[in-house]
Amino acid sequence: MDNEILKALRERRSIRRYKPEQISDEALQAVLEAGTWAPTAMGRQDPWIVAVQRPELVARIDAMNGEILGRPAPFYGAPTIVLVFGSDPAVWPNSIPDGSLVLGNMMLAAHAVGLGSCWINREREMFATAEGKALMAELGLPEGLIGIGALALGYPAAFPPSVKPRKDGYWRIIK
Ligand SMILES: Cc1cc2nc3c(=O)[nH]c(=O)nc-3n(C[C@H](O)[C@H](O)[C@H](O)COP(=O)(O)O)c2cc1C
Repeated sequence: MDNEILKALRERRSIRRYKPEQISDEALQAVLEAGTWAPTAMGRQDPWIVAVQRPELVARIDAMNGEILGRPAPFYGAPTIVLVFGSDPAVWPNSIPDGSLVLGNMMLAAHAVGLGSCWINREREMFATAEGKALMAELGLPEGLIGIGALALGYPAAFPPSVKPRKDGYWRIIK
């Protein structure tokens, strides 16, 4: 069985080189809206999505993340960063799976509209610091949220040359 969605699921790749030009508002909105259609536990729509395109802010987030990673440019020069936040798991235990599905939907949507994306880690640590919490307030978020993940988003400048085959025994069917 095959169709366009199944093909897109196979063909989406993490993109780690971006063109400097900013993406269109139309493409960004398509990606963000796709995020909002991810399933969430009990339909709570817990995640918070913030797309950042202001160059100074993109650079600041990139630098904060890079400090934790220990090397510069963790967002690979992407012109847009999409941050996903959620409730503290002590308050809402499904916040991390909820936010992760939002990120997954957005990566697939990015691929579907000709953009490249890559999940960039370390938001939990970044937004647990005083600097991170101050940034969350600047972004207009309520207190008490945690960082779940982020996407580098932009027009791809290069594609990975190959993809790992899926591991043996990845799935099984028990009838
Ligand atoms: C939870 C999670 C965290 C990730 N963190 C990073 C990251 O910090 N930097 C990065 O370059 N890629 C990151 N990735 C991308 C993975 O490395 C990538 O999905 C994997 O190598 C498979 O490649 P593909 O997405 O092209 O299929 C992350 C992916 C996931 C799901």
